[in-house]
Amino acid sequence: MGKYKVPILLLCVFFNLHHNARTYSPLEREIEAKLKLLNKPAVKSIRSQDGDIIDCVNIYEQPAFDHPALKNHSIQRVPNFLLESQISRTGDGFNVSSDVYQTWQKSGSCPEETVPIRRIRKEDLLRAVSLARFGQKPPEVFVNSINPTNLNFSNLNANDGVVDLKNRSDALLVAYAFQFIGAQANINVWNPKVEKPEDFTTAQIWLKAANGPDNFESIEAGWTVNPKLYGDHNTRFFVYWTKDTYKSTGCFDLTCKGFVQTNKDIALGATLGPVSVPSHQQYEINVGIFRDNSGNWWLKVKNNIPVGYWPKELVSNLQSSASLVQWGGQVFSYEVKKTPHTGTQMGSGEEAYNKFGVACYMGGVRIKDNSQALKYPSFVSTHAIEPYCYSAFNDAPYGKDPVFYFGGAGRRPPHCP
Ligand SMILES: *[C@@H]1O[C@H](CO)[C@@H](O)[C@H](O)[C@H]1NC(C)=O
Ligand SMILES: *[C@@H]1O[C@H](CO)[C@@H](O)[C@H](O)[C@H]1NC(C)=O
Ligand SMILES: *[C@@H]1O[C@H](CO)[C@@H](O)[C@H](O)[C@H]1NC(C)=O
Ligand SMILES: *[C@@H]1O[C@H](CO)[C@@H](O)[C@H](O)[C@H]1NC(C)=O
Repeated sequence: MGKYKVPILLLCVFFNLHHNARTYSPLEREIEAKLKLLNKPAVKSIRSQDGDIIDCVNIYEQPAFDHPALKNHSIQRVPNFLLESQISRTGDGFNVSSDVYQTWQKSGSCPEETVPIRRIRKEDLLRAVSLARFGQKPPEVFVNSINPTNLNFSNLNANDGVVDLKNRSDALLVAYAFQFIGAQANINVWNPKVEKPEDFTTAQIWLKAANGPDNFESIEAGWTVNPKLYGDHNTRFFVYWTKDTYKSTGCFDLTCKGFVQTNKDIALGATLGPVSVPSHQQYEINVGIFRDNSGNWWLKVKNNIPVGYWPKELVSNLQSSASLVQWGGQVFSYEVKKTPHTGTQMGSGEEAYNKFGVACYMGGVRIKDNSQALKYPSFVSTHAIEPYCYSAFNDAPYGKDPVFYFGGAGRRPPHCP
């Protein structure tokens, strides 16, 4: 037996050298290096039914700690403030369930001291516009950039909701005129159609602050259908951050260094289910983003479950407060604001005025300001940049908790040709 050991080992070495020499182009080497940087060593890996692989990574080895600004950051394991538990389901709980889970959770769980991270594969990188922009939203560029009369980044206000963006279409509820230190909503879960491979659609919350004269910072969470990023048409739970209007910083989920995850049961970018059924059972997920006393912004779901946080080191003005909160949907497509319009849907794919059971909604909309109370915002406005394609309607009957409806089908002639 012993005499075979050496030849086999040599054969392996020879094969590897040969293999490397033959197949590794510069691009492939770059891809391998990027994968190695993004995918941290797993203590355990879970193969999910939806095709994802979830790696349970030691909490101290997650991507965030590669960030130069987080060199001296000591991880915060729990938020240093009391979590609120006030908000319940939307619509008096009538045919509404908050029993939303993540598909991978059916196939296993991560051990203590680890966090679940969706593994990034070579094919995911190959779908990206470029390796450098993998995991990033395209930059926001304003249609009226020569004379942005309705835009002042030093003083973000309601007008930011009506700003016309290139290749993006929004339907939003906007809260302004305050310094916000938190926001939340129950987001109705759907699986809208995404028509073009580079399109994506979101239902989400944004908290924004100015960062210099021509940039804003934003931290975001919600659900998205984004085939370019995730490789399928599933509805996925996501987070995002940027400190320069999506130009170069930030990304979705843990596809770059930044967000610090603390929860071992919830994976960012993972498939959500079940989704709502028209005129029948509605599913919603409570999502909240709250600043703690040290300036970190915590993400929590299902009222009281902390997922992790955006460390204060990532942002500048957002460290103290957000000056704008937006709830609603956004479609990114090269075929918005033109004819023929993209058929990518927003929300449930139905228009806002169809209301409960048909249109997508945000219920239990709340903000927190320096009074520390969780409350419905004093000033809100609604904005839809292409109302015949994607509409916005805030249903606020006297004495009832308002529900914000939004969405649409995209192309639907004659209204949205
Ligand atoms: C980390 O701490 C060292 C020593 O106190 C300091 O020199 C360095 O600037 C710090 N780095 C960051 C990114 O804060
Ligand atoms: C933008 O807002 C800041 C602060 O409120 C103000 O000083 C500045 O003059 C404004 N700029 C424009 C172009 O309105
Ligand atoms: C509530 O759900 C049940 C079962 O899915 C359905 O039969 C009923 O029509 C729904 N009611 C409303 C008002 O949506
Ligand atoms: C918007 O889409 C067009 C193609 O229709 C593209 O040329 C342009 O670069 C895009 N702009 C931005 C800011 O993404």
